[in-house]
Amino acid sequence: MVTKSEFGGVALYTVEAGELAVSVMTLGATVVSLRYRGRECLPRYDSPEAYPAGGAYLGAMIGRYGNRIGGARFSLNGKEYRLPANEGENQLHGGPDAFNSRVWEAEALDDAVRFTLFSPDGDNGFPGNLRAAVTYRVAGNVLRLDFEAESDADTVYAPTSHMYFDLSGREDCREAELRINASRYLEVDGGLIPTEVTGVEGTRFDFRTMRRIGESYDHCFVLDGETACVLRDGGVQMTLTTDLPALQVYTAAFFPKPFKPFGAVALEPEAYPDSPNRPDFPSTVLRAGERFRRWAEYRFETAE
Ligand code: GLA
Repeated sequence: MVTKSEFGGVALYTVEAGELAVSVMTLGATVVSLRYRGRECLPRYDSPEAYPAGGAYLGAMIGRYGNRIGGARFSLNGKEYRLPANEGENQLHGGPDAFNSRVWEAEALDDAVRFTLFSPDGDNGFPGNLRAAVTYRVAGNVLRLDFEAESDADTVYAPTSHMYFDLSGREDCREAELRINASRYLEVDGGLIPTEVTGVEGTRFDFRTMRRIGESYDHCFVLDGETACVLRDGGVQMTLTTDLPALQVYTAAFFPKPFKPFGAVALEPEAYPDSPNRPDFPSTVLRAGERFRRWAEYRFETAE
């Protein structure tokens, strides 16, 4: 079932089925509420404008490039593209005023809502007129996201959903338990640009067995398969599966007010950061006329 309402003057769509209700606003195609068995699982602001203004990308659709592009530049087909930098010399999450701060078109379907956005050639430095879409569908206790796009010129595209989770409502993600299906992660430099792919064995990045998060992370894990991770806290378990190759885990140590540091953990299914400058990483090139399709599913259940 889909119902339309508003949140501070912005259109809000609630998709509900079984014990799961997900509310998404047109501003940033941002998830502003996810209730499982009546319990709110996401940190929330009380006005729509606070979301893009807050700098935490809470619940937002990220584009055109989730995570960082080093030096805010890349080359494609022998041409260099310079992008506006918005984190030191790098570009983060598509640059300033990116997809998270745009108003998307919404279309309610039977059990889903589909958001679309037109991003013109040269938008934040990226080539190609791009039509992006994200569909939020709820079936049983699963929220499914389908990311789609098409461009009229060769470009790069790497969307993600930037939801932070606090399954227990205790506002301390260090106490939550996490399993990540990754035997490798990306080591990064001071600007959080990947340097090398490293094994997790014997490091603090080994989450192959469920354990307390415990400390600060802002790292990208290379997924071993479609099950990305399992998060468990306060008797709720969420399993994230995706066909994207990597997962950024961000413990929000510097969560902006009104949130507490470590108040929630962001789990971002994504491409490897800085792929446009790394021929050794899976390609994020989207060729003209090609259809981009990736998905992510978030399954909720009660846990002992
Ligand atoms: C991602 C980044 C973090 C931070 C958040 C948004 O998770 O990796 O460094 O920028 O987005 O606050």
